[in-house]
Amino acid sequence: MKRIAVLTSGGDAPGMNAAIRAVVEQGIHHGLEVYGVYYGYRGLVEGDFRLLTLSDVHHNIRRGGTMLYSARYPEFKHKEYQEKAISQLEKFGIDALVVIGGDGSFAGALSLSKLGFPAVGIPGTIDNDIPGTEYTIGFDSAVSVALDAIDKISDTAASHNRTFVVEVMGRHAGDIAIWAGVAAGADAIIIPEEEFLIEDVVRRTEAGRSAGKDYSLVVLAEGAMDVDNFVEQFQILAPDQSVRGVTLSHIQRGGTPTARDRVFATLMGARSVDLLIEGQKAIYLGVREEQLTVFDIVETLEKTEHQVRQDLFQLNQKLTDRGN
Ligand code: ADP
Ligand code: F6P
Repeated sequence: MKRIAVLTSGGDAPGMNAAIRAVVEQGIHHGLEVYGVYYGYRGLVEGDFRLLTLSDVHHNIRRGGTMLYSARYPEFKHKEYQEKAISQLEKFGIDALVVIGGDGSFAGALSLSKLGFPAVGIPGTIDNDIPGTEYTIGFDSAVSVALDAIDKISDTAASHNRTFVVEVMGRHAGDIAIWAGVAAGADAIIIPEEEFLIEDVVRRTEAGRSAGKDYSLVVLAEGAMDVDNFVEQFQILAPDQSVRGVTLSHIQRGGTPTARDRVFATLMGARSVDLLIEGQKAIYLGVREEQLTVFDIVETLEKTEHQVRQDLFQLNQKLTDRGN
């Protein structure tokens, strides 16, 4: 093996740069040339490749976003585009590819592996929603940004005895909502994985007030319900409460990656190169019980579903069920 390439795909996530840096450092350490593919699978098909050096990557370990840029490129689901990508990789003499992204991006890596081109995945998405792994790069940073914003909102909420409904990201998964909600002491956490009744959420906020709380906080995952709709229905059921809705949106995808995101990104980036050198393909790296773990893409993505931390969710439900 002489040359490998790395790309980022799907929504960017803080820590992706740390993973890119580790791939380049480890590749160079093994005497390889490492190419960056710009704009995800679109760049792969169009041949937007550039040779990366240590000076391109070393300072990026502390930066959010992705220095390789990202794209959503649905065309890549079609075989003719995947074949075009392989022609480009062959044209540049590239032997193997590291894909940093979410489960959609992993499906792209799998399709290349099935066509005979070795590709391994590194989980990079703030949603933490990839089956198998308990952790994805960017999740820790996103939770910390969300929590910081919720703490600020809680200051003004308390000053006016208000109820705030804060919508956090998470298209299909409630992980950000659960972690930020538990850490903020939310009265209710609403996630796409669990059915809920707005009446029950109202009851929890009222119970909190009766127990002496001077504001109420609901953390809502975007995949569960639209925040404006939620606030409207909540207000009808709780006409005495002053309710406001806030959407944190893309601020959760930006900012300095946390130490945890950088450390796991570094571990995964370096290991991905070792695995390619060993001749592996159609696998991805993840974390289980704090240890770096190798997962088979087909086995895991097709047969497993992502699990949220039910223990944390249930604990919050229990703590805020004040019995009225
Ligand atoms: P994420 O990787 O964060 O889950 P997406 O689901 O948007 O984000 O996927 C990112 C990109 O991966 C898509 O824009 C597309 O280029 C590629 N992709 C997604 N699904 C597939 C698939 N089934 N086969 C091949 N490529 C795919
Ligand atoms: O997958 C990451 C994510 O940030 C989701 O939480 C969110 O729903 C989505 O991407 C937003 O995508 P876009 O930036 O394309 O609007």
